[in-house]
Amino acid sequence: MDKLVVEGGNRLKGEVTISGSKNSSLPILAATLLTDRACVIKGVPNLKDTNTMFKILKSLGKNIVFDNGVVTVTQAKASDYVADYKLVSTMRASFCVLGPLLGKLGKAKVSLPGGCVIGVRPVDLHLKGLKALGADIDIEGGYVVAKAKMLKGAHIYLGGEYGSSVLATDNVMMAACLAKGKTIIESAACEPEVSDLGEFLIKMGARIKGLGTPIIEIDGVRSLHGGEHTVIPDRIEAGTFIIAALITKGDVVIRNVVVEHITAVLDKLKEAGATVRTFKGGLRVSFRRNLKAVNVTTLPYPGFPTDMQAQMMSLMSVTKGVSVITEKIYPDRFMHVAELNRMGARIQREGPHAIVQGVERLSGAPVMASDLRASACLVLAGLVAEGRTDISRMYHLERGYENLEVKLQQLGAKIWREKG
Ligand code: EPZ
Repeated sequence: MDKLVVEGGNRLKGEVTISGSKNSSLPILAATLLTDRACVIKGVPNLKDTNTMFKILKSLGKNIVFDNGVVTVTQAKASDYVADYKLVSTMRASFCVLGPLLGKLGKAKVSLPGGCVIGVRPVDLHLKGLKALGADIDIEGGYVVAKAKMLKGAHIYLGGEYGSSVLATDNVMMAACLAKGKTIIESAACEPEVSDLGEFLIKMGARIKGLGTPIIEIDGVRSLHGGEHTVIPDRIEAGTFIIAALITKGDVVIRNVVVEHITAVLDKLKEAGATVRTFKGGLRVSFRRNLKAVNVTTLPYPGFPTDMQAQMMSLMSVTKGVSVITEKIYPDRFMHVAELNRMGARIQREGPHAIVQGVERLSGAPVMASDLRASACLVLAGLVAEGRTDISRMYHLERGYENLEVKLQQLGAKIWREKG
């Protein structure tokens, strides 16, 4: 198993271009199940997770051609409605094939995704929404078995104890496109990736209003045709590189960024004293002065994204002062704390809070990646730590970052891959 090795101390300088959004690509690829017609999706990153979705779509009857970021999806054979455990268990986001399968075929059998290190990851809101549209839902042998002669539009409140749900909103919105009548989703997720999915559905002939707001209205149509779409840039990759520039006291131009999608992150970094100059389609991060510790609380969009929490913790670990990081979306999303402490960070976990006491320097150490964003946080820490950091289980990183080590090498980082 490969590992990533980072020799700390180099300031990052130069330019990097952000890839297309993983979390936009996955539901948009699933949405191609809503039609038998050809769809062309551009700007799709070449990741473990997008390749897993290609495998799932092929298992459901699609033909996939993926070339240089462009995915062409066509119907290869009669659609199947069973998304099997082997594939779904490797990527929980596969669960977002449930809504389109149910909408298009009136039936779906999708393995329950199970939990992961960042939390239990329930799907009660997905099932609540689909039941409200008239689906019969059973759990059999670890699978969700859903049936519906005809889905009917409904008024659905989709808020959970942690607020809105991105993929539950996606699943219900996709199913509702082919339901009879109007569906209103209240407490819908407002993430840009949900809006990007909605824009693609509209190009396929869906009738959707309210994207980006907590109330989304869908007027069902009889069928959807194919569509062509370019996914939005990955705002979490962009945020990760902004922090890489700051933590190494570098000067980096980051291209292919929708600045409006990371307002909360930029606002928080500005509060910490960072200099970030934005321009059309990108931004420049130049280290000017030492930052100061700031508190961070993760919230649903447009709040500070939970997917940037671990990366922010790395930055605060080497920032003078005390930073309280509160995780409101996944209260257990702190696997990276122990690993950062192994590198000399001083972080104390108190329930959904992590108290970070900034230290002068981190020291390189062998560490273990546990989930996608925790892995990124360890790379960021390694970039600034004294000495060498070996990050094992780097397959976590490959799930969600396209060519991360190459992009960092091009910015002057001493980072390479080794046989584990
Ligand atoms: C999406 O996951 C993202 N994944 C996650 O990114 C991201 O962390 C998350 O949204 C929150 O922004 C993709 O888009 C593929 P949720 P999702 O449903 O939709 C609870 C990454 O690193 N909840 O919005 O699965 C849930 O437990 C990944 O790229 C229920 O209670 O997350 C959580 O506390 C990690 N019941 C909160 O809602 C449900 O039925 C938000 O989760 C569903 C969710």
